[in-house]
Amino acid sequence: FQPKRLAGKRVLVTAGPTFEAIDPVRGITNLSSGKMGFAIARAAREAGANVTLVAGPVSLATPRGVTRIDVRSAQDMLQATVPAAQSADIFIATAAVADWRPSSASDQKIKKDGSGKTPQLEFTENPDILATLAKSARAESGALFCVGFAAESHDLESNAQAKRVRKGVPLLVGNIGPATFGADDNALLLVDAKGTREVPRASKLELARRLVAEIADRL
Ligand code: C5P
Repeated sequence: FQPKRLAGKRVLVTAGPTFEAIDPVRGITNLSSGKMGFAIARAAREAGANVTLVAGPVSLATPRGVTRIDVRSAQDMLQATVPAAQSADIFIATAAVADWRPSSASDQKIKKDGSGKTPQLEFTENPDILATLAKSARAESGALFCVGFAAESHDLESNAQAKRVRKGVPLLVGNIGPATFGADDNALLLVDAKGTREVPRASKLELARRLVAEIADRL
């Protein structure tokens, strides 16, 4: 028997990459598969929560019983996430949000003009969705528990702890490499104010269930 530890709770999850347009047919994205975020949405639903999943462009089936909002860019993701967080109890940011977007997307396809000249792109920093919500009144009052993720290439423990403090979240989850994009399993490092704890290698669904239990313990 699995107790429904998140019954009556509202959980908001971001997942997948974002896509930042250059012109109507081109853009910049990354290799996030969305699998971890979708597994977390599923595990939270299994634990009895009401779950909203804000997904960047991925090709994954919506977990049963989960409300899904599809978005494309970081700005779209922020616009979908901020209102949904107003009634959420837990926010889990797994999305690999693009750090920068082209400053102005061309509304027509950029054409080669035959001269060999290449387009010059300028970039603007995207909003940090996790940091925005972690600093919201709802989070500061303790009504919204925020969880971040970190994919670090080195010094995971110290970088993850520094990131936790910088983002202002009580719990940060480090992906223990090597490169986990698209993989079906992973190992996690949970970092909170008390220290760190490793969740050994397992399927992303199993890790998601463990993480949901860890969050339930902290509420
Ligand atoms: O700063 P960094 O991108 O490494 O932080 C990763 C964490 O912050 C993840 O939880 C990610 O979902 C979140 N994030 C975000 N908005 C951004 C960048 C990162 O929500 N623009």
